[in-house]
Amino acid sequence: MKRAAPLAASIVALVLLFHVGRVRCLPESTLRRSSPPATDGLCAALIRPSGYPCSEHTVETEDGHLLGIQHIPHGRKGLDGNPRRPVFLQHGLFMGGDAWFANSVDESLGFILVDSGFDVWVGNVRGTSWSHGHSTLSVHDKEFWDWSWQELAQYDLLAMISYVYLVTNSKIFYIGHSQGTIMGLAAFTMPEVVQMIESAALLCPISYLDHISSTFVLRAVSLHLDQLLLSMGIHQLNFRSDMGIEILDTICDGHMDCNNLLASITGDNCCFNLSRMDYYLEFEPHPSSTKNIRHLFQMIRKGTFAKYDYGLLGNLKHYHQLHPPAFDLADIPNSLPLWMGYGGKDALSDITDLQRTIKELKSKPKMLYIDDYGHVDFILSEKAKDDVYGELIKFLKSQECYSSY
Ligand SMILES: *[C@@H]1O[C@H](CO)[C@@H](O)[C@H](O)[C@H]1NC(C)=O
Repeated sequence: MKRAAPLAASIVALVLLFHVGRVRCLPESTLRRSSPPATDGLCAALIRPSGYPCSEHTVETEDGHLLGIQHIPHGRKGLDGNPRRPVFLQHGLFMGGDAWFANSVDESLGFILVDSGFDVWVGNVRGTSWSHGHSTLSVHDKEFWDWSWQELAQYDLLAMISYVYLVTNSKIFYIGHSQGTIMGLAAFTMPEVVQMIESAALLCPISYLDHISSTFVLRAVSLHLDQLLLSMGIHQLNFRSDMGIEILDTICDGHMDCNNLLASITGDNCCFNLSRMDYYLEFEPHPSSTKNIRHLFQMIRKGTFAKYDYGLLGNLKHYHQLHPPAFDLADIPNSLPLWMGYGGKDALSDITDLQRTIKELKSKPKMLYIDDYGHVDFILSEKAKDDVYGELIKFLKSQECYSSY
């Protein structure tokens, strides 16, 4: 398997770690218990307990999904009178907004941004534990799961960014990880989104996926896991469910070294705190849709950064053309400053694919390369504060436009 699970699939990996082979060391109940109830909210679960103020907000997308957004207006010491510019954090696949707060206060990017003087807003895409509502559908309806990252870019991101823009009356710094970078790059080709963005920092940037080296994902692609699941009527992909765990077992069964599952999905992570695994598993992995996985597999198989492929007839119906329209990276305005952090051990955000992305962009992103970082390190490394976040924050601050004050 190779390619597929992308992005923050890390999390899946986490789960797997415990489920396959020697990994059966976690009590079953830890993995199988249901996701945290949305009413509790991420603020109550992770942010307020660390002493930070936090409020919950809900936005509705054009197609009826209700998304949770968290706002952390200042740190533990209160406001200092300096203007705070809004930063919007967009998590990756199988992750939720909790991923930005999963390490200690000194190590987690979410807390570090608050303490560095930013006004922090946390996005959560449809289907995650923090965004599980819909105006008419229930999570048990297959229509609830009828979307891929295309809708996450076109509907979720548009709705969340518009909300923050309206409330703060300010352009927004965008930070995305993994699938959050696919969403960002696709959405930045839309003038109505990019006009609200001051600059963007992308961790493990992805637009093309055809060079990924993840053994786990490539195996899932070669097994046609996407078609298989859809033909079985499985539209929600939840690795906390019995079905999800069976899927993992199937992929791993005797064919690869699942004792090191996380690495086989994301690449070797140098600086991940293994003793924190139980804690991560309280929140991750979040559900996603089978259609989303299928869309990602299409990118892996075809080497495209395009809309979802419905097949010739379906494409005619949806797009009035035989092939799905591509997202053109050259449509992202040169005036949008970009920063990218990428790692030499990342099996999902491959350097060859990234070079193609950069070639097609009009603007020249500022790059930070870390040789021994894998896909998860950019979010969960114990040293990311020194290795990555300092540079990232320097970039954001160098872009700040004080003229609005
Ligand atoms: C690793 O995780 C453990 C358990 O949560 C924690 O006690 C320890 O401080 C962490 N180490 C670092 C360097 O963050």
